[in-house]
Amino acid sequence: MAISNLQLTPQFVQAVRDAVDVVEIAAGYTKLARAGRKWKGLCPLHKEKTPSFHVDPELGFFKCFGCGEGGDAIKLHMLLSGDDFPAAMESLARRFGVPLPPPPAAHRGARARPESGPDAEAVLDAAAQWFRGELLRSELARRYLEQREIPAELVERFGLGYAPDGWRNLVAALAGRFSVGDLLAVGLAGRPEGGGEPYDRFRQRLIFPIRNASGRLLGFGGRTLGDDVAKYVNTAETERFHKGLLLYGLEHAKRAIRETRRALLVEGYVDVLGAVAAGVEGTVASMGTALTTEQARLLARFADEVVLGYDGDTAGETACQRALPILLGEGLTVRRARFPEGEDPDSLRRKAGAPALRAAVEQAEDYVLAEIERRVPADLHRHPHGRGQAGRAVVELLRAVPDPIARYGYGRLAADRLGVPAQLLWQRLGVGRESLTQALRPAPAAPGGDTPGRRAEQEALRLLLLTSDRGEALPAPAELPPEEAFYDPDLRKFFRAFRTLYVEGSKPRLREVLEGARDLADAGEKAAQLLLESDDSAGAPPLADVLRVLRRRWLRHRLREIQQEMADAQRRGDDARLDTLLAEKTAVNAELHRPAADLPPTGAE
Ligand code: UTP
Ligand code: MN
Repeated sequence: MAISNLQLTPQFVQAVRDAVDVVEIAAGYTKLARAGRKWKGLCPLHKEKTPSFHVDPELGFFKCFGCGEGGDAIKLHMLLSGDDFPAAMESLARRFGVPLPPPPAAHRGARARPESGPDAEAVLDAAAQWFRGELLRSELARRYLEQREIPAELVERFGLGYAPDGWRNLVAALAGRFSVGDLLAVGLAGRPEGGGEPYDRFRQRLIFPIRNASGRLLGFGGRTLGDDVAKYVNTAETERFHKGLLLYGLEHAKRAIRETRRALLVEGYVDVLGAVAAGVEGTVASMGTALTTEQARLLARFADEVVLGYDGDTAGETACQRALPILLGEGLTVRRARFPEGEDPDSLRRKAGAPALRAAVEQAEDYVLAEIERRVPADLHRHPHGRGQAGRAVVELLRAVPDPIARYGYGRLAADRLGVPAQLLWQRLGVGRESLTQALRPAPAAPGGDTPGRRAEQEALRLLLLTSDRGEALPAPAELPPEEAFYDPDLRKFFRAFRTLYVEGSKPRLREVLEGARDLADAGEKAAQLLLESDDSAGAPPLADVLRVLRRRWLRHRLREIQQEMADAQRRGDDARLDTLLAEKTAVNAELHRPAADLPPTGAE
């Protein structure tokens, strides 16, 4: 298949980077409105009501000040499409007209990076097809499906298959078309330690093909139909197969989820089939792993609300507790369906019927409320001491609710139940009355006022980043303005971070600085926001000019300081200091009055 045949040469990757248009990609997922030279809209990566998603076509990047995500067009495409890097390269190249490099000469069986080697997807596809055929041939498999009441229509839709018992069935069946190396590379075959004949990884198992949201086949899960101690075996984690980045069933569920804005999240493959068979189309599984942020984010692209449908046992309880803050963190509303002890969605459907499963999903309770009730026992008034502990548990829960208004609502209820003034909870949360009112107010558009001076600082930073990002020549470190030339404290911190990277010898890439901006805490975020909101409709002046404006402004400022310090030194009779200052003053004056015909207008000073 073409996808895995692509040779990702640095030249090709660069050509794709140059060709992609970040605005076009973003516009495919959210409505953008022009804001000067840039674009703004509701963030497609998280749920929000006021737009904090910015796209800068010139810098070629996006940044969301709501969820903090930022980066270049390729990253945006990967986040939104679920494509991995090679797939992103291929689809973006096609879309933006970059010629695909020729496939490498085939070196079957002797590849350095097997999972991205040629034909990976072709091998998986061929195996999936063979497994499907075996399912039709196997009496055992068909009886099993019948017994578990999995309708034929779903077997078809989900492409279920069967890996027969025995060690070399698949290996032998595909031998004519693919090498042993190919099968090893995609994890369909294993080789005994110390060498020997390769064998089938999946034996006597019902096969679940695992695809990403766009339907690309990435691997398999296999449930034993025999007495193997491992109930499930999955494709090994490789470059192309990461359980933590996938949700089983999303390919089929995404339409229903998008339409209803709601998803049912279950643990197992069979639970997905069971729920769909019961009429809950928008169902996906986290495949038994602890839910990851990536999975939650993937869900939040399609859903506003998630109903947790984990197994009714201790493991399910723990998994739910872990999943709650992760889902809340992506802006999702979380409800929880309760199943009788020991049941999972599929067993409930079979024992109590499809309507019972649908009812459990419909009646799923608000999970944050349920947790408040669990963490604050109803008889707490008899145990004053228990309130402290319950209060802490509740505060931890409230922290996970990102929306301040929702948090306020939950907080009021929790305080009532605890029997304490809500103020006590706000204090614990580190939210004074002041900042709570603030949190409820719409966010101010841009921090601080806008002065010509700050515009010059903004412009200087923007051009520095842009020049560096394009790999063009930057002024020598010594020629950069001192950090004191930046009066805005955030821009100064940001400039310091940039200069540090630069002086350490790396050419800061925009992405690094922006991604690192989170480490700069508020300063990075604010500076990035200023960069994105800077109004430069007049067109960008050359970097050297902007830097000179900053430097001259700083020199003038320094001159005033020197005068002040000289007066002080004179009063003290500190002649040595006076000499030093005089020398500096002469140098500064000389630089300021050096004839320079090409000086930019001094409007920014
Ligand atoms: P369960 O043990 O709950 O399986 O694991 P299940 O889906 O209910 O399967 P049945 O009904 O007994 O056939 C839930 C999910 O965890 C993953 C699988 O994705 C499974 O569907 N899992 C579980 C593994 O990957 N490996 C395992 O060994 C067990
Ligand atoms: Mn289960």
